[in-house]
Amino acid sequence: MRVLVTGGAGFIGANFVLRTLATRPNTSIRVLDKLTYAANPDTLAPVADRVELVEGDITDTALVDRLVAETDLVVHFAAESHNDNSLADPSAFVTTNLVGTYTLLEAVRTHQVRYHHISTDEVYGDLDLDDTARFTETTAYNPSSPYSSTKAGSDLLVRAWVRSFGVAATISNCSNNYGPYQHIEKFIPRQITNVLSGVRPKLYGDGRNIRDWIHVDDHNDAVWTIIDRGRIGETYLIGADGEVDNRTVVETILELLDQPTDAFDFVTDRPGHDRRYAIDSTRLRTELGWTPSYLDFRAGLAATIAWYRDHPAWWQPIKEAVEQKYATTERVTG
Ligand code: NAD
Ligand code: DAU
Repeated sequence: MRVLVTGGAGFIGANFVLRTLATRPNTSIRVLDKLTYAANPDTLAPVADRVELVEGDITDTALVDRLVAETDLVVHFAAESHNDNSLADPSAFVTTNLVGTYTLLEAVRTHQVRYHHISTDEVYGDLDLDDTARFTETTAYNPSSPYSSTKAGSDLLVRAWVRSFGVAATISNCSNNYGPYQHIEKFIPRQITNVLSGVRPKLYGDGRNIRDWIHVDDHNDAVWTIIDRGRIGETYLIGADGEVDNRTVVETILELLDQPTDAFDFVTDRPGHDRRYAIDSTRLRTELGWTPSYLDFRAGLAATIAWYRDHPAWWQPIKEAVEQKYATTERVTG
């Protein structure tokens, strides 16, 4: 099978490529990636002889049309993915997440190619901290940020192209991923690399916000489950029952790195900061038989810490610039 992976030089897409080559050796993979600041082509260097990396933009109609014509399946990871960046400047989010998805949809429509759309639980907005409700496939869309609203819009484009044009698409909405090769602007790798660099971790607001953590390999295994067995036109939520508040995550990182668990700073909160995300993945588990493998978040976090400790060359060159950018908006509050 020939697979076109958009965003395959980013965090989840690159893990998808590496895991697919390891578990499905007969798959032929081509990556389409713009190589934005978020990409690190070094991640794919060990498999360079098995993967063709095309540097290009998903909004480039001619390029996308040619690549889609030559593939059997598109798995669309490419996006502008960081909420904080979307608050500073939403423009690239609108272009890549909405126009980029539209461009891919038109190409898969023309060439009748199977399409899987990677999306986020953030399209559903947030939940109260003291609520027991979780997101399901029927929860109403209610996104909060420029990032999540463009992802929500892209999901709706996919649904319309399925219904109006018969495009053979599935959608997955996953919770927060962690694992190797995640850009150090994101919460967990930022705090790990802060501690490894002698910098105090930074918690937004009161640190009580909850995220539903899933290991990136579990996410990608679920994506293949949906591609293999999902019903065309359907949406599946992906989550591993991993709810943890941000303060606990930081304290656990500090503890695992033999630091005092109170050696962190509270900083300015994110505007519009979603309080809690939580996924009910019953449908994926019961209808398609998927189950996560990483059931112990502390153990997964320890493995992730070990990966960043053992791969400084992957992240150290950008660390100072990432922290300098945060320093322009962030103030220590406690
Ligand atoms: P990332 O920012 O690490 O990687 C995104 C990749 O897309 C980068 O390699 C970048 O160069 C590429 N890209 C950006 N704009 C492009 C364009 N115009 N054309 C071609 N390539 C472009 O993101 P990630 O965390 O790996 O997320 C991947 C996907 O998964 C996104 O669609 C995101 O919304 C979704 N998602 C992420 C999470 C998470 O926790 N990170 C959870 C659920 C869903
Ligand atoms: O839920 C899925 C989403 O998870 C994906 O769609 C996004 O692409 C991905 O970036 C992620 O979004 P979040 O905004 O939840 O992730 P982030 O890593 O930016 O932040 C996680 C939590 O940690 C959030 O409550 C904000 C907080 N935070 C973040 C940073 C960077 C801090 O407290 N301190 C920090 O330094």
